[in-house]
Amino acid sequence: MAEGQSGGSRFFGPSDRHLLGIQGMHPSRIEPILDLAESYVLMNRSRKTPRDLLRGRTIINLFFEDSTRTRTSFELAGKRLGADVVNMSVAQSSVNKGETLLDTAATLNAMRTDLLVVRHAQSGAPALLAQKVDASVINAGDGTHEHPTQALLDALTIRRHLGRIEGLTVAICGDVAHSRVARSNIHLLTSMACRVRVVGPPTLVPRSLASLGVEVHHRMEDGLRDVDVVMMLRLQRERMSGGLVPSAREYFRFYGLDRRRLELAKPGALVMHPGPMNRGVEIDSQIADSDQSVIREQVEMGVAVRMAVLDLLSRSKRSSRS
Ligand code: CP
Repeated sequence: MAEGQSGGSRFFGPSDRHLLGIQGMHPSRIEPILDLAESYVLMNRSRKTPRDLLRGRTIINLFFEDSTRTRTSFELAGKRLGADVVNMSVAQSSVNKGETLLDTAATLNAMRTDLLVVRHAQSGAPALLAQKVDASVINAGDGTHEHPTQALLDALTIRRHLGRIEGLTVAICGDVAHSRVARSNIHLLTSMACRVRVVGPPTLVPRSLASLGVEVHHRMEDGLRDVDVVMMLRLQRERMSGGLVPSAREYFRFYGLDRRRLELAKPGALVMHPGPMNRGVEIDSQIADSDQSVIREQVEMGVAVRMAVLDLLSRSKRSSRS
């Protein structure tokens, strides 16, 4: 997970206290998380989760941006492992009275919080907190930087359906420039020997992205050809400073995923979307609900992956105390 001061990223070691991003994580660190998450999928389905594993532990969800999937699944994950989970409502907190991020974090830290799950509009905010608090910090999405648990749940979904991750060709389509989901997925998939294409208009998919080890395409017809997986992204208008795209209708005409475009991919290619979806903007409603879509399964995998991450970080914390 996070690089320790010694420079190593040791999974169960004391330096491995936080999950701040996927960048720099070796596949040998990623695979065990997916394996453990896989076991949590089975436990969740049979409703037999180890409810005393995190008994006495406190998790605070500190979300400075909106969320449905991530916040709820971290809450469920913590509760299914027996932790005390607190959702802090930033809208009703002293942040509105001018308290700084660091003072808020120090306050929560003083309450002997074990795990702090943080979403923030500023890239790097969770990393800053991680330097200041005793709690383990999990990045639940920071600005345009990273959303590590989303990439892990996406990888688990792909592995369950296609039996492997290595060697696949994956197209990530849409607003890549503003997407922390895209960035975490690019780091994970390229580290696991996937061929990754990013596809979208030049305003949202700049050529400079090639420096991340991906192929850049500006036409869906080029980018989707023979891919194993199509990941669609939402237009993140909240992060756009100007008119980077024409109308939603025009965007769908050139960059929306419809049946005709999906037929360019391999037969049975997976259709993914991290959510929230804008139907009729980046994805045709029928495709989102089709047999090729694994969008709902991604949500299910999100709970299992977050259980695995909470479990592993708690083990790491235990070993650093001993
Ligand atoms: N995928 C994702 O992060 O969704 P939420 O914004 O609903 O958490």
